[in-house]
Amino acid sequence: MSQKTRLLTSERDDSIVLPSEQKKQVLLTGLQPSGTLHIGNYFGSLKPFQDMYEEYESFLMVADYHALTSIRDKEALRANIYDIVRTYLAAGIDSEKVTLFRQSDNQDHMELAWILNCLVTVPFLMQAHAYKDKVAKGLEANAGLFTYPMLMAADIMLYNADVVPVGEDQRQHLEYTREAATKFNNTYGGTLKEPKELILKAVGVVPGTDGAKMSKSYKNTIPLFGSEEEISKAVMGIVTDSEGKRPENVYAIHKLFKDEAELETLYTEHEGRYGDLKKALVADIEAVVAPMRENYKNISDADIEQVLEIGVTKAREVSHQQLARVREAIGITF
Ligand code: ADP
Ligand code: TRP
Repeated sequence: MSQKTRLLTSERDDSIVLPSEQKKQVLLTGLQPSGTLHIGNYFGSLKPFQDMYEEYESFLMVADYHALTSIRDKEALRANIYDIVRTYLAAGIDSEKVTLFRQSDNQDHMELAWILNCLVTVPFLMQAHAYKDKVAKGLEANAGLFTYPMLMAADIMLYNADVVPVGEDQRQHLEYTREAATKFNNTYGGTLKEPKELILKAVGVVPGTDGAKMSKSYKNTIPLFGSEEEISKAVMGIVTDSEGKRPENVYAIHKLFKDEAELETLYTEHEGRYGDLKKALVADIEAVVAPMRENYKNISDADIEQVLEIGVTKAREVSHQQLARVREAIGITF
């Protein structure tokens, strides 16, 4: 893969951890099991995680309780949980090098979330973008969505995470987490760690087939594990009505898969031949995704269940200790 993902945190460059540092810092991120991944998710989230997780003591959590704020279809939720784990494993995430677990398998998350909810105020939670956006659109906002930032804060603080790689859309949730930590520490003299977000900037926003941000809600995606036909269909549908020399919407996706110098040559040689350039893009996407698609097919449900079981056993060892400290701090221990 030509694109080298660099880690940048805009105003928080001090949070970059050098591999040479002795004790590994703790990294944690959560994945919503909300449907089949597209190449925007791959470059915006999976690939950056893959490039960095071995440098840290890493935790990767399937945020299925979070998903309940939006998914009410039992079969879909179940399928999505398997799908997200299968996707990460197929992409080459090594389950022996990361604690990969499912949130709902560890009840400590619920308990710490409740404790944090009892500390923060309603007006504070009302400032959250996810909640405000829903209300502004006139959509039903359930109480789970409202308190979602404290569940996420619990996810992070149970493992003493130092860094949390997330997309730009999650920045505010990290601010909420730090606020909750401060409030807890000021109230109880506790020692909850304030985590830092790691916003991955190198890739930026992957555009969809219409040039807007690739998103499943805009139906402009290229599926990560689609068949060659599905990928081809999506690529052929890329909007190329620009008058310029270069089909910018094709190029913007292509540069994720191929070195820019090689692309310059290709696009110069094929100037104006949009169909050929799209075919070249399909071939370059295939070269990256075909091996992963093969792995994906070979990972059974039983493999996934085993990985998650081992993962949650390790996760609980850490979170139980942290929760014991929290219980001690708040006075619900004997
Ligand atoms: P969608 O917009 O398709 O619903 P999600 O909101 O579920 O995607 O995003 C999951 C992760 O993938 C997030 O970390 C988000 O930052 C990343 N992501 C989603 N779409 C893109 C994109 N077009 N470009 C870069 N990253 C993306
Ligand atoms: N809220 C995140 C999202 O929608 C998912 C998530 C849940 C998460 N818990 C987390 C991310 C903890 C990082 C850390 O993408």
